[in-house]
Amino acid sequence: MVDSVYRTRSLGVAAEGLPDQYADGKAARVWHYYIGDKRSRTDEYRSWILSLLQSHNCRNVLDVACGTGVDSEMLVEEGYSVVSVDASDKMLKYALKTRWNRRKEPAFDKWVIEEGNWLTLERDLSPPGAGFDAVICLGNSFAHLPDFKGDQSDQRLALRNIAGMVRPGGILIIDHRNYDYILSTGCAPQGKNIYYKSDLTQDISTSVLWVNNKPHMVTLDYTVQDPAPGQATPELSKFRLSYYPHRLESFAALLHEAFGGRCEHTVYGDFKPYQPGQENAPCYFIHVTKRTA
Ligand SMILES: C[S@@+](CC[C@H](N)C(=O)[O-])C[C@H]1O[C@@H](n2cnc3c(N)ncnc32)[C@H](O)[C@@H]1O
Repeated sequence: MVDSVYRTRSLGVAAEGLPDQYADGKAARVWHYYIGDKRSRTDEYRSWILSLLQSHNCRNVLDVACGTGVDSEMLVEEGYSVVSVDASDKMLKYALKTRWNRRKEPAFDKWVIEEGNWLTLERDLSPPGAGFDAVICLGNSFAHLPDFKGDQSDQRLALRNIAGMVRPGGILIIDHRNYDYILSTGCAPQGKNIYYKSDLTQDISTSVLWVNNKPHMVTLDYTVQDPAPGQATPELSKFRLSYYPHRLESFAALLHEAFGGRCEHTVYGDFKPYQPGQENAPCYFIHVTKRTA
């Protein structure tokens, strides 16, 4: 009884029902080394995303997994009105630092950064009018959401909340790794990883957890060189991230459901038009879903 009165009401869990895989700060600290120079990373898809946004008359964009802010910063630089959210304060810290350092630039002064969780997004955020022109969720972020209940109800809720931020006629751009390939071969497709710089990545080892004959979780153990300033030789930093392995077809079905069927859906492989069964397996699938009503 006494304990229930005097004990703190917050037991230190980052957000209800959500494990923050970045909470120890290890991955967040080396994230900028892992993604490499921000400009060269976003150059990989900058023109693709800008022409897509332009062709849908998008002016305001919600980045629902901004992490350290790399994609949001690119869009602010390009003149978009950007709201960025993420569930991890350890990751947001770096986005907030960028905003602070560039606050004298009017576009950066207007950049809104909030803590937000896909599972409670409609409470965490008020969209403008009928919604955002575009919502982005890039860098294999959505796969971070675990399926602890084993029925993908959290994935459905999160996608419904995310889709609910898109105005009629607006678009959602969301990606995941090519888990179809990873599950059938045990490793990631060969070829350039569009998001992450390989020359500082020493090793990524992959483990797959199967439950009742279904792939339930893919865990990647990363070893990244950490050329921290003031150190003669880079240290090795290790961090582990686990993902729910979305297959292309079932993820497309989840998206369709999240929009209540009122959508048009296109899939890209590494930001290029994707043909099922094509010779080169892409590292990432990028889904573009337009809300039609
Ligand atoms: C791989 S990072 C990618 C960040 C950024 N988009 C990039 O490409 O560098 C994934 C991000 O998703 C965020 N995330 C995971 N689950 C989330 C949730 N339920 N709600 C909001 N953000 C979440 C993590 O905190 C992390 O910052």
